[in-house]
Amino acid sequence: MANPDQWARQAHDAGYRSRASYKLKQLDEEYDLFSQGDTVVDLGAAPGGWLQVAAESIGHRGHVVGVDRRRIESLEGFDVKIDLLQGDLTDQTTIEELALIVEDSVDIVLSDMAPNMTGQYDLDHARSIHLAQIAADIAASLLAPGGTLVVKVFEGRDLDEFRDSLETGYRYVATARPPATRDASSELYLICKERITAPVSVGDRLTVEIIDVGSEGDGIAKVDGFTLFVAGVETGDTVEISVTDLKPRFGFAEPVDR
Ligand SMILES: C[S@@+](CC[C@H](N)C(=O)[O-])C[C@H]1O[C@@H](n2cnc3c(N)ncnc32)[C@H](O)[C@@H]1O
Repeated sequence: MANPDQWARQAHDAGYRSRASYKLKQLDEEYDLFSQGDTVVDLGAAPGGWLQVAAESIGHRGHVVGVDRRRIESLEGFDVKIDLLQGDLTDQTTIEELALIVEDSVDIVLSDMAPNMTGQYDLDHARSIHLAQIAADIAASLLAPGGTLVVKVFEGRDLDEFRDSLETGYRYVATARPPATRDASSELYLICKERITAPVSVGDRLTVEIIDVGSEGDGIAKVDGFTLFVAGVETGDTVEISVTDLKPRFGFAEPVDR
């Protein structure tokens, strides 16, 4: 297995702009991040190694948008549409400009953003959590139901709480440390798959009207346009339900006290 310096050499030889390219390739191999035609937003994208990997991974139809406070040199030789935006993502105007560039809903938000390192473990960790939270907020506003967020964060005391906050918004959250990461680095990546856009949470109790019955025989209720399948009810029933499971685009519930 190559060590991180070998990854740097390998990236250079392969024409990638950063050693970080291999981290994203390794995450893609393990977590199957990209699909043909995806729209990808890459936060903290300079010099552009992840942009190269994303652009070559989504085939001929996709769209890649890279943002960084540093200027990103234009990328040549890809079939996909690539937009680059220079701006600081702690600044709301950059986030608004990004939303205007992204025309379709987004399939993947990537964030390799890192603060300027001070060497003070707690301070660097806190700044990294701040940037990761910005990425999570951008993902919450741009990602399609079922979409993926990959976000870098430095280890430290607020990591568990940050990870817990992501677990309410995605069906799967995994913690990854790809082999191309330097040994001394405290960085890791949270891989958040299948974004949930439900207006309810598992365990919520609410009263709904059953408007139809689906092909499997479950009743159908709508909550702010979100579909809940409810077992053992009929069209026209008004029932108190408890939400038992959520998928990105629909959920399951059962009647309470019946
Ligand atoms: C590790 S580098 C990203 C490397 C990139 N993934 C690649 O493969 O080339 C981290 C980047 O985050 C950017 N960054 C840090 N804070 C930022 C912020 N507030 N707004 C925009 N970019 C930021 C830095 O300028 C830096 O280019």
